[in-house]
Amino acid sequence: MQDILISKPSNFHEGFFSQKVMSKNLKLGIFGFGVVGQGLYHVLKETKGIKAEILKICIKNPDKKRSLPMEFFTHEQKDILDNPEVDVVLELIDDPEAAFEIVSTALKNGKAVVTANKKMVADHMTELYALQKEHNVPLLYEGACCASIPIIRNLEEYYDNDLLSAVEGIFNGSTNYILTKVFSENMSFPEALKEAQDLGYAETNPSLDVEGYDAKYKLCIILAHAFGLFVSPENVFNYGIQNISDFDIKIATEKGYKIKLVAKSRKIDDKVIALVIPQFVTEESELYKVEREFNGVIVEGAFSEHQVFIGKGAGGFPTGSAVLSDISALTYHYKYEYKKTRQASNLQLSDDFDIDIYLRFNNPKLIDKSVFNVILEEYKALENHYIIGNINFSKLKGSKWISSPEVNIILLENGVENHA
Ligand code: HSE
Repeated sequence: MQDILISKPSNFHEGFFSQKVMSKNLKLGIFGFGVVGQGLYHVLKETKGIKAEILKICIKNPDKKRSLPMEFFTHEQKDILDNPEVDVVLELIDDPEAAFEIVSTALKNGKAVVTANKKMVADHMTELYALQKEHNVPLLYEGACCASIPIIRNLEEYYDNDLLSAVEGIFNGSTNYILTKVFSENMSFPEALKEAQDLGYAETNPSLDVEGYDAKYKLCIILAHAFGLFVSPENVFNYGIQNISDFDIKIATEKGYKIKLVAKSRKIDDKVIALVIPQFVTEESELYKVEREFNGVIVEGAFSEHQVFIGKGAGGFPTGSAVLSDISALTYHYKYEYKKTRQASNLQLSDDFDIDIYLRFNNPKLIDKSVFNVILEEYKALENHYIIGNINFSKLKGSKWISSPEVNIILLENGVENHA
């Protein structure tokens, strides 16, 4: 356990940490000791600069063998939530609803909170924003978005006044790992998924990764910090990688492309468009070389222009490093100000835009081609057919084949940008 003294910074403002608390060790109460919890423990142990100490770890399963002495563990939430000695609650459990209960109780009890739970944050963004304001306590969640990539704090602070027009990229490590293995090593999809699970990258329910939900939760969080737009995940479209077939991979390879699962958001006047979808990427794209569990985030601003962040997007240590950075930020009283909400009064999520897609299908009777604005290429064979064309996004979402497992959709590179 750490046992390092914390000193009061000269520019310290009285707030959620009383002077009493700041003059002693920062006391941490952790919920969950899985991949991220253990990653954080390791990162904390190895870090010399951080002035913090783990007081208690609340775990669900009392029978599981643990790598630390049992005195650190408790099964009682109140040992952390009602413990006046705990300054910071680290919420690192899996279940998003249980996590919300923990986080909201901690905030109400005046404790600062750090979480890496993207679904919980995305699902409850409005309530969490209100709780932070009402109780004047910070909630930080850098580890919830692209693990080691410091995107939230950069959107909040570095890009606080730049007029951002787009934030997009690869936001999920597991699917990127699977696609890398399938493309570069000819591995089968189930084998690659198993590896991603074994390495601790995938969610407990891996369909959240594979079907694009995890990337969507991260996108929703990013929308709040990039554009000041609070959007419920159910209003954002996600299409995963589960329907990608050997035929799709063959077509991509023949054309010199890779397929990446991308999360895209763009601001056009008072409209914001947001979606998660597999995309063809060419060698010219910065995302082409983002492989395995790495993520890549591209930010476009009016003045900063095009910038790219690349880093490990999944795994205990990369996520632990983001949680550590949040703990460190709390020692100098950092909190999110959601600065972009002040610029965002008329912004709305919009489905009214056109995109270029590749649509592969086996049964031509399923597809009504008249929904396309333009068909650029058509391929027909006995087994597989495809259309490359331009379609209105709301028509794509409303099509009867969009949820068919016999169909696959891939966005063309610049397939949104060319029409936005
Ligand atoms: N399952 C997530 C991923 C973990 O693969 O990106 C990190 O958020």
